[in-house]
Amino acid sequence: MKHLSVNHLLGINELSQEDIQLIFHMADSFNEVLNRPIKKVPTLRDVTVANLFFESSTRTKISFELAEKRLSADIVNFAANLSSLSKGESLIDTVNNILAMRVDVVVLRHPNPGAAYFLSKNVDSVIINAGDGCHEHPSQALLDSYSIQQKLGSIKNKKILIVGDIKHSRVALSNILCLQKLGAKVRVCGPSTLIPKFLTNMNVEVSFDIKDSLKWCDVANILRIQIERQNLNFFPSSREYAMLFGVNKKILDNINKDILILHPGPINRGVEVTSDVVDSNKSIILDQVSNGVAIRMAILYLLSAKMKSKY
Ligand code: CP
Repeated sequence: MKHLSVNHLLGINELSQEDIQLIFHMADSFNEVLNRPIKKVPTLRDVTVANLFFESSTRTKISFELAEKRLSADIVNFAANLSSLSKGESLIDTVNNILAMRVDVVVLRHPNPGAAYFLSKNVDSVIINAGDGCHEHPSQALLDSYSIQQKLGSIKNKKILIVGDIKHSRVALSNILCLQKLGAKVRVCGPSTLIPKFLTNMNVEVSFDIKDSLKWCDVANILRIQIERQNLNFFPSSREYAMLFGVNKKILDNINKDILILHPGPINRGVEVTSDVVDSNKSIILDQVSNGVAIRMAILYLLSAKMKSKY
């Protein structure tokens, strides 16, 4: 059996192109399982997974939990707001106490960039990064690229546009790294205040013109405007953002080109994208969500197999 080159999933940065293709190959098999009447296999019945979410989540949390259940793993869920963190317990102490109950894999969402990397160096468990602050969200990027590959056959040489708040987005960074490893050309478009300068060193095109960018691309991945950060005034108002960078049916009809529309969710309908685009046949947003379970099954399976190969 082929193994991943990594022991943890901390970011796309650490994965090779072969690792990504291996995850996609396994996700194909798990998608087949998910289409059976009984959507469950006994593969991880000897593995215990803790889902530690220190930040809110709908899709990622449910998707990992379903993936674990479909693989027959034992699971324990942890919500930071109901834990002893409020009594001053540190992250390492919290996780080591959970691991003392013989947990094998930790799925971690945390507001601090580097939290998953820090845990991987300090606790004895497989760590999966489910989003660390503004840094990386590797399982999201993998399911995004997998969904594009499923629709277009290949990612190589495809033109992929990422629109919106690139600066604060862990989805953007992980997507850029993943798409480039798979041979795509990547462009970002958004307000200049939300485009980080380091992108020019990453061979990423930058544009401030949404119409030109949509004409250029084969695929547009539209990011959420992070309303919780708008007190910092990165742009004057959501209304102005929608006028200058929002994707709507009228712009797409004028371009008259078949492009795929992705969005990692949650969506602010009417701000970064209108409902007539979200709900159109160009959108593969719900395919992304469905594929998320298969991709997370593949990640859990491959990292558990690597862990067991060392026994
Ligand atoms: N895409 C994503 O990470 O969504 P959640 O925050 O709901 O998990």
